[in-house]
Amino acid sequence: MTVAELSDLDLAGKRVFLRADLNVPMESTDSGRRITDDGRIVAALPTIRALLDGGARVVVAAHLGRPKGQPLPDFSLAPVAARLSELLDAPVVLAQDVTGPSAQAVVEALGEGQVAMLENVRYDPRETSKDATERAELAAEYAALADVFVSDGFGVVHREQASVTDVAGLLPHAAGYLVLKEATVFDRVLNDPDRPYAVVLGGSKVSDKLGVITNLLPTVDKLLIGGGMCFTFLAAQGYEVGDSLMEADQLDVVKGIIVDAAERGVELLLPVDVVVAQDIDPDTEIRTVAAADGIPAGWKGLDIGPETQALFAGALAECRTVVWNGPMGVFEVVGFDAGTKAVAQALVDLDAMTVIGGGDSAAAYRQFGFDVDDVTHISTGGGASLEFLEGKTLPGIAVLRKD
Ligand code: 3PG
Repeated sequence: MTVAELSDLDLAGKRVFLRADLNVPMESTDSGRRITDDGRIVAALPTIRALLDGGARVVVAAHLGRPKGQPLPDFSLAPVAARLSELLDAPVVLAQDVTGPSAQAVVEALGEGQVAMLENVRYDPRETSKDATERAELAAEYAALADVFVSDGFGVVHREQASVTDVAGLLPHAAGYLVLKEATVFDRVLNDPDRPYAVVLGGSKVSDKLGVITNLLPTVDKLLIGGGMCFTFLAAQGYEVGDSLMEADQLDVVKGIIVDAAERGVELLLPVDVVVAQDIDPDTEIRTVAAADGIPAGWKGLDIGPETQALFAGALAECRTVVWNGPMGVFEVVGFDAGTKAVAQALVDLDAMTVIGGGDSAAAYRQFGFDVDDVTHISTGGGASLEFLEGKTLPGIAVLRKD
């Protein structure tokens, strides 16, 4: 699919409605809410800078969390506007509402090469409404604030929402650099990967990853499974998994995947050892057990073990393309973070196309202090990157099609 690009638009002096995904993690402190990972704000900068350099007036629209149509102060974009202003080294005026009098006044006052931001678009219940008429009404209010629409919020392109899809029908539009880059990378790994091609999957639930596995099995050479989801695979092979996360209702599905992988000649790698404990607590007793020996009752697997780390790193070493989605263990807790760190290190060590699906694996990679430039691409999309890997058409990208 070819999508319209920034170069297709006439930007000088124009008001640009820029949908970005600035949904960043926050923590509460004594002095207010603090951003814990500004990766998505940083990722939005190239497009914002290009628009400003082109003489546009930029109106940033974004959401934060799920305030369910209520203007809840804890979901205000104020900390995000402040951080964006720091990164741009320029003022970013934040409107007090989404499309109301404050938004209109802020946009009216906006000069060429200046940036303003609307309040959290999800303060307006019409943004996420299932009723297309309600969304269209809000989209018309967005369109009245601007001359063109630029879609750069890759993290939300899987959502059919007023500021993501509906507004595209009302204004000349294009994809920003981030959406273009993400779509290009995922197209490449889905349709034309250099080989050998490996996908590493983790995360807690196998049921969340079934769509990805089904879509990727016909194209991958190796599939490496860790994280909570590996215990359903280990149980399907007849191993005891103790109190580990295990989806009993998915056992038959997983047995089918194991057979399918073998028939297709896909190398399926499962943990050979696991780190176990009775509680998710860094001070608890931690043991490593061989997967084939089984995990005793009362104990649960919380990370892949050292032999598995070496097995996975060895399997990846010869690969030319690696996609990684989902942590290998409870990486947030010391003692259960080594497997996720080892996979991140294995990607860094490769001379290959390396892609980290968004969400937890991207957060882990940054939290461990790895350099973002040491992998080919870190996706800013959680759900969006998963749906891309599932082979779905993403509505927020479909509306940018140039035919
Ligand atoms: C995300 O964090 O994955 C995106 O910002 C989308 O958020 P949502 O799942 O609330 O639509």
